[in-house]
Amino acid sequence: MPDSPRPRILVTIPMFAEVLAGLALHFDMDAPCGTADHIDWTPDTLVARAQGAAGLLVAGAPHIDAALLSACPQLRAVCSMAVGYNNIDLPACTAAGVLVSNAPDVLTETTADFGFALMMATARRIAESGHYLRAGRWTHWSYDMFAGADVHGATLGVLGMGRIGQAIARRGALGFGMPVRYHNRSRLDASIEQQLDARWVDKATLLREADHLVIVVPYSPASHHLVAAADLALMKPTATLTNIARGGVVDDAALARALRERRIAAAGLDVFEGEPTVHPDLLALPNVVLTPHIASASLRTRRAMADLAAANLVAALGGGLPPTALNPQVLPLRPMG
Ligand code: 8YV
Repeated sequence: MPDSPRPRILVTIPMFAEVLAGLALHFDMDAPCGTADHIDWTPDTLVARAQGAAGLLVAGAPHIDAALLSACPQLRAVCSMAVGYNNIDLPACTAAGVLVSNAPDVLTETTADFGFALMMATARRIAESGHYLRAGRWTHWSYDMFAGADVHGATLGVLGMGRIGQAIARRGALGFGMPVRYHNRSRLDASIEQQLDARWVDKATLLREADHLVIVVPYSPASHHLVAAADLALMKPTATLTNIARGGVVDDAALARALRERRIAAAGLDVFEGEPTVHPDLLALPNVVLTPHIASASLRTRRAMADLAAANLVAALGGGLPPTALNPQVLPLRPMG
């Protein structure tokens, strides 16, 4: 009997060599990015590359939409090494019988570390003062030189109280004595609120009361510009805003205006509308700490995210139960061929 052909997969992102080697045990593989490069995944390139592939390994990009699904009828599984999956049209995948998985949990603490660090760097003006020093401008001492805002004891506002939001709240409450206010569609259990010293408030109250606002809400059409000009106007002039969620949750142009006019003190941004392009007005401002979407980027965590995505792909195409499937109702997958 001839062996049944191995499924073919397409890896759309640079990937750890060890993870590629593990996938090669199960699949015929197209990994055009290898371990380091990247290619320009226009929708047409992706469709052309994905012809014949039963599985895709992706991250926060590219877009997986109904047009791609109908152009790639052999596709069975799309496995992402990101927790956010706003780049994937989940209802369209479910309707087409395509399994989708994301990579939750393994990145929670690393991402919370980064969110807290970015908030602290923003409050204490770490990037701005570092640039000043490197520019050779440090010639004197003054009581107010780069004086920022305290973090300990200040009110922490968390917009989006999922796993990462709770991990940030825990750092603030237990490590820094911060009273926590949060806004989320659903309230936490009273016992968790108590542990985190966290109080649910409506969005306007959150914006009014936060000394340091950290945004961790997933992106969806409902959260597009959740923080826009009118919301920023509610914040204290001494407050900071940190966004580690997704570009598009904050109106970046309105934020740049509020920062320029010192209607809020500073911002820390890891995500941007239209990234990797960044709004030029943000680039021009001193009171913004900018990082290139690296909140989950510790090597250990990125490897755990990649391993989880690979495990989902192997399970999905091998007839098993993918550990973090988003639409397990499509199982068992249609036979290939
Ligand atoms: C990813 C992220 O690195 O997991 C997510 O949702 O935003 C990051 O951890 C990013 O999506 C990769 O594109």
